[in-house]
Amino acid sequence: MSKMIVGNWKMNGSVKLVDEFIAGLDKQVILGLPSIFIAYAHLKNPEMQIAAQDCSVFGDFGAHTGEISAKMLADVGCKYVILGHSERRKNMNSDTIDNILLKLRNVVQNKMTAILCVDENYMELLDKSISDFIKTHTNEIVIAYEPISAIGTGIIPSPDDINKSLKNIKLHINNVKTLYGGSVNTKNITEILSIPFSDGVLVGGASLNLYDINTMASYS
Ligand code: PGA
Repeated sequence: MSKMIVGNWKMNGSVKLVDEFIAGLDKQVILGLPSIFIAYAHLKNPEMQIAAQDCSVFGDFGAHTGEISAKMLADVGCKYVILGHSERRKNMNSDTIDNILLKLRNVVQNKMTAILCVDENYMELLDKSISDFIKTHTNEIVIAYEPISAIGTGIIPSPDDINKSLKNIKLHINNVKTLYGGSVNTKNITEILSIPFSDGVLVGGASLNLYDINTMASYS
């Protein structure tokens, strides 16, 4: 089975870049777009596999100015939601363990797949409440292991170290699917995809280049 290739544009991109990707993105890639582009991309190319980069802790609708619910994301064609990215946990006090659990519930209830990011201290986030929930939803939740030291730095741990962490996570949670993220690019993709306990990759910066992300997909 081919491995998952997920892109995360973070707060980057433009309508022009979205148009380029709509026309040429490998169908296998799941692309994490800024929420403002999701409906546009889906309407122009309903085949595109789109991820959001976060969702609200609140349920479907309500008086919550500025929030976007999981239900709304599903309504505009989103199939995946990235949650708990370290950039959000670091900068936004709102991504606490309790809130991440609420977000996971909202994503699953709306029949999407959550891509839950964890860092070197993954056991902290995978505390009992979150682990118990994931154990009962292993088909709908994927864990992306992203060491903070590797995000955007070009410095990645050895394949053996990555493999050990992914294996620990799978042992902790019923064989949950795991991705590796942090400085993945066209040069290291084959090595990372061949890590036995990896089910795919989460690609940040390099996912903004259509040729690069398609090249990575061609190896999966
Ligand atoms: P990077 O980001 O590939 O630019 O290191 C990965 C991520 O933060 O998901």
